[in-house]
Amino acid sequence: MKVIKVKNYEELSRTAATIIAGVILSKPDCILGLATGSSPVGTYDQLAAMYEEGILDFSHVKSVNLDEYEGLARDHDQSFGYFMDQLFFSKVNLKEENIFLVDGAADAAKQEKRFNDFLKDNKIDIQILGIGNNGHIGFNEPDSYFTASAHKVELAEETIKANARFFEKESDVPRSAITMGMYGIATAAKVILVATGAAKAPAIKKLLESDHVDPQLPCSILHICEDATVIVDKDLYELTK
Ligand code: GLP
Repeated sequence: MKVIKVKNYEELSRTAATIIAGVILSKPDCILGLATGSSPVGTYDQLAAMYEEGILDFSHVKSVNLDEYEGLARDHDQSFGYFMDQLFFSKVNLKEENIFLVDGAADAAKQEKRFNDFLKDNKIDIQILGIGNNGHIGFNEPDSYFTASAHKVELAEETIKANARFFEKESDVPRSAITMGMYGIATAAKVILVATGAAKAPAIKKLLESDHVDPQLPCSILHICEDATVIVDKDLYELTK
């Protein structure tokens, strides 16, 4: 697992976008694994800017998103599908038929199957990850085991509290979600995790301290990924020492 220390959020976003751009340029029909949350927003801005400048072409790229809240349809303004539409898909030339999103409003069991069928047929070339304060990736919460397949998950209390900032009130945050499991993440050819902000320090500290693969720290799966890079800003890195 490589660790890249950067000056600030701007440099973090440029670094992540440069790595992703490299994959798209060398494989125009690559499969991008995408994440939501505030951490990758700058990366998406950078990628959209590279598209505007004519450096990147997404017309053959496929995408798959990590997760979605159960009960929220793509047109719900707190759904991850809506987030992706607003902050990325509307700014690049990815084709609608090449975008894989879980439909949070549809039957969860059917969506899990659809997600697992997709992952069976489509190996991710590069997966971008943020990280929850408790070390979760996607919505793989700390537990006594890892789940390999895409699955429905009950969100940890801590996650509901952390994500409440995007909703009007905490009780509006859905209690469950459908997430890619560790199979999709661990079999990606490349994984990059972007982390910024003091709240992430305890999880990043544990991740950097040992190479234990511990389901209580879901991001520790990166230790067994073939090509994993963690990008952290200087302020966060200082807090992990
Ligand atoms: C959600 C998402 C994660 C994301 C996390 C952190 O829980 N499911 O994929 O990494 O939020 O979000 P942020 O980057 O806003 O801190």
